[in-house]
Amino acid sequence: MQRSWIEETISKVGQEVLLFGWVKKIRDHGKITFVDLGDLSGEIQLVLSNFKGKLSPYLPLRVVGVVHQRPEKLINPKLPTGKIEVEVKEIEVLNDTLPLPFPLNDKGYQLNEVLRLKYRYLDLRRHRLLENLKKRSQLVEGMRRFLFKHRFLEIETPLLTKSTPEGARDFLVPSRLQPGKFYALPQSPQQYKQLLMVAGVERYFQIARCLRDEDPRADRGFEFTQLDLEMSFVTQEEIMNLIESMIIFLSKELGFKVYQQPFPRITYQEAMRKYGADKFDLRKKKEKGVLAFAWVTHFPFFEKDEDGKWTFTHNPFSKPLDEYEDDLLKGKNIGQIIATQYDLVCNGYEVGGGSLRAHKPELLAAVFRILGYSPKEIETKFGHMIKALSYGAPPHGGIALGIDRLTAIIQGESSIKEVIAFPMSASGTTSVMDAPAEVTKDQLKELGLKLLPKKDD
Ligand code: AMO
Repeated sequence: MQRSWIEETISKVGQEVLLFGWVKKIRDHGKITFVDLGDLSGEIQLVLSNFKGKLSPYLPLRVVGVVHQRPEKLINPKLPTGKIEVEVKEIEVLNDTLPLPFPLNDKGYQLNEVLRLKYRYLDLRRHRLLENLKKRSQLVEGMRRFLFKHRFLEIETPLLTKSTPEGARDFLVPSRLQPGKFYALPQSPQQYKQLLMVAGVERYFQIARCLRDEDPRADRGFEFTQLDLEMSFVTQEEIMNLIESMIIFLSKELGFKVYQQPFPRITYQEAMRKYGADKFDLRKKKEKGVLAFAWVTHFPFFEKDEDGKWTFTHNPFSKPLDEYEDDLLKGKNIGQIIATQYDLVCNGYEVGGGSLRAHKPELLAAVFRILGYSPKEIETKFGHMIKALSYGAPPHGGIALGIDRLTAIIQGESSIKEVIAFPMSASGTTSVMDAPAEVTKDQLKELGLKLLPKKDD
């Protein structure tokens, strides 16, 4: 017999079915025992007569039984399978279980984070978390479907690479074959996606892991995932419109509501005046499943850092608005230069950001001059980009959306950890496996590394 999904049993009244799943709930009525069995597709009530064995929550089961209509007064209108039940003919417990470290039939918010993450594989059995993972998977599937329809190619870019400045610290990986040298894990695929535009790919996207060593927060992790995309021969307007129609498409597929359409557009200056921030919540009252998107544009390209040096506000590879190109090339009126940057905000969070890029080598070189790099530094750090742009690079631009943040908002979660399968703790320790961890002396030697004594030694 072939396995039936629990969801399918609705159309199998009168038939014998083979089911697999976990015990969710047990109600022992003496002669009759009711067991709620759950699989990936749903839950169903099993009816066991004169059951002599022992069952406990989250034992994995194999069950053969007959699907029956429930008597009228026992119908549960809350369950999709509430009109039926399965009369068990054969039952096999497929494994033993230790007692669970915490209950799984609640939302789990109140639990200690360290405990939840240590047993993340159990924590994920919670209905809420499984639903979050399902929604995230549907979101990515919908994005892929939409983008393939619009001629995009999905392309992977390297993880072991050279530093790309996105404003955070890099995670470094020592090289065994070239001791003393390091790879940087990508803060984003920014440079590679631009190189793909030089290569003539025209429409690229990637569900990209990004790594940034900055202090983790509810909306920020060391590792996160972007829908990263880039297009050639486009205007800012065309990129924004494409993203807007993708989100409308996703809202229909996933069942969330878009608060205002077309997405309101507001300049950075206006946003600061009106909301005191470049991200804000347009909703009058907060309702789960209602997403209020808005675009923020006209960001300053540069700002002064603590040391009084010019730094970029978003992305050093951006292009300024046309009317500021001359100032940028000459390094004049730097504080007034406006970038082609557009951020997408939603319910108070920044969920995306992008820009048109400096596709002419002299423009990119001018940005790095303003940032204070010497000609030699520009050559060693970004010479490859300036060179690549010198081979007839097409005008191009793109955007990246934060998939963790977007899923959290759709699901009404206030932390991205609730929509990541194996997130890190607040102190940067991984779920289940205790990383970062010490390594052996031999491993260090092989990499040509030596540890300094710890500060408190
Ligand atoms: P940016 O740095 O704005 O742009 O990142 C794009 C989006 O990614 C999400 N995000 C994060 N999510 C979780 N944890 C983090 N630490 C984190 N950092 C960023 C946000 C953000 O809007 N290369 C450019 C994109 C481009 O210009 O095309 C970039 O990475 O939702």
